[in-house]
Amino acid sequence: MSFTRWEVFCVLSVLALTMPFSAGVTNLRDVSAINNLYITLGAPSLSKWLAFGGDPCGENWQGVVCDSSNITEIRIPGMKVGGGLSDTLADFSSIQVMDFSSNHISGTIPQALPSSIRNLSLSGNRFTGNIPFTLSFLSDLSELLLGNNILSGEIPDYFQQLSKLTKLDLSSNILTGHLPSSMGDLASLKILHLQDNKLTGTLEVIEDLFLTDLNVENNLFSGPLTMRQICLHYSMKYKS
Ligand SMILES: *[C@@H]1O[C@H](CO)[C@@H](O)[C@H](O)[C@H]1NC(C)=O
Ligand SMILES: *[C@@H]1O[C@H](CO)[C@@H](O)[C@H](O)[C@H]1NC(C)=O
Repeated sequence: MSFTRWEVFCVLSVLALTMPFSAGVTNLRDVSAINNLYITLGAPSLSKWLAFGGDPCGENWQGVVCDSSNITEIRIPGMKVGGGLSDTLADFSSIQVMDFSSNHISGTIPQALPSSIRNLSLSGNRFTGNIPFTLSFLSDLSELLLGNNILSGEIPDYFQQLSKLTKLDLSSNILTGHLPSSMGDLASLKILHLQDNKLTGTLEVIEDLFLTDLNVENNLFSGPLTMRQICLHYSMKYKS
């Protein structure tokens, strides 16, 4: 037997309305945001999580870290979570870390994302569609991990504002097209994983970045690699 999201939503709403309500320490905007997240993820079995109300910071919800009344981290890697994500993800007031890696989450990556986010990992899921260009507004982003999904289309040319980004992993998707020129603006970038895609063109745009770890294997890149890229590539490959 399987349920649609609306059926799950309905049952959970009825349950929630029949339970006693009490005010907690968590700010209500974050409570509502995590309630919505729980619903879009299809009500996964995560300890303490609810579709309505509750007190994530006061009750130690599984994978949730708070700074007094604000949710600052949600880490639920490898919890067999399915469902999808929606634009209500942007409703978190001050979240910095979202680690949803190694689950079965599908659908597209929402356009609306929380502007306070620093580390976002959606690796190892079933996300489809394009990389949203709205990522370009997340100017505090330090780590963006989208590897091992089914993302397609071109990498958007909107990296100008991501001056704090140190780690970018887009590996093992089906991305096409050239590397966008704004990738050359990623001044803090150290780790870049693009392997196992269908990217074309040259690596010229990332030539002047001070990367410590680059992997571009299994793409359709053409043109000569510079000496530095070759060194990086091989130091990477033979590093154990
Ligand atoms: C909680 O978040 C609000 C809104 O972003 C912010 O004004 C407040 O300073 C935060 N409180 C803490 C303790 O971080
Ligand atoms: C966020 O990502 C950066 C860059 O990879 C890393 O140094 C930092 O430890 C991460 N922070 C958290 C809280 O996971």
